[in-house]
Amino acid sequence: MKEDFKQASDRIFCALDTTDTSHAVSLAQSLKGTIGGVKLGLEFYCANGSDGFKAVADTGMPIFLDLKFHDIPNTVAGAVRAVMPLAPKIMTIHTQGGPEMMRRAADEAADQAAKLGVPRPWIVGVTLLTSLDDSDLKACSVNGTTSSVVPKLAVLAQQCGLDGVVCSPKEISLVHGATGSDFKLVVPGIRPAGSAAGDQKRVMTPFDAVAAGASVLVIGRPITQASDPAAAAKAIAASL
Ligand code: C5P
Repeated sequence: MKEDFKQASDRIFCALDTTDTSHAVSLAQSLKGTIGGVKLGLEFYCANGSDGFKAVADTGMPIFLDLKFHDIPNTVAGAVRAVMPLAPKIMTIHTQGGPEMMRRAADEAADQAAKLGVPRPWIVGVTLLTSLDDSDLKACSVNGTTSSVVPKLAVLAQQCGLDGVVCSPKEISLVHGATGSDFKLVVPGIRPAGSAAGDQKRVMTPFDAVAAGASVLVIGRPITQASDPAAAAKAIAASL
């Protein structure tokens, strides 16, 4: 895992949850050199598409494209093929799309990376959304609890060739217990000591999350809502 990043601060990806391209670009510029990259999700991509992505990528910041694909295998493979020219560093799919969908996504990313001459992105699976609790699973006719289903889906993702999964800080040891500690874990719900949790219910500090085994820390509001985002990012980087 250590060889993935030159320095500890490269593990930090800042979630730019905005529809405003110029704001995203200026945040990315101000964070460059301090943290490893930025995350663009559905909100940004639905508003600005690949042109918005390219504007942010032009800053030179590595990008985690968090679109959480979930569809039939052929459609997900096509969506992966469509975004590969953008050369994201990390991208996400839902594990609940099933084994064939996951395999097709991983294979397509590898094939296109070779064809386009770009690095193969990490394909990372969402197991269960952390917004779901045990009663939601029951409502959706899913047998089991979040703590029994999450490690099973993580092992399935690993068997299907995914690089890792997204999980909450409190699930790190549960998932690594099932997959082994080389499986990459992308972890949101990170809050520096003393900062506001906002709507995140189960949080951990950046230092503790890396110590527990997180590969990538996704941090949004503690950086983007700070009066000086670059200084906030520097302080978090220094805490690692
Ligand atoms: O602002 P904050 O640090 O809470 O942002 C966390 C980011 O990680 C947001 O983009 C959010 O959508 C994302 N995320 C999350 N929990 C998950 C998956 C993704 O908070 N389970």
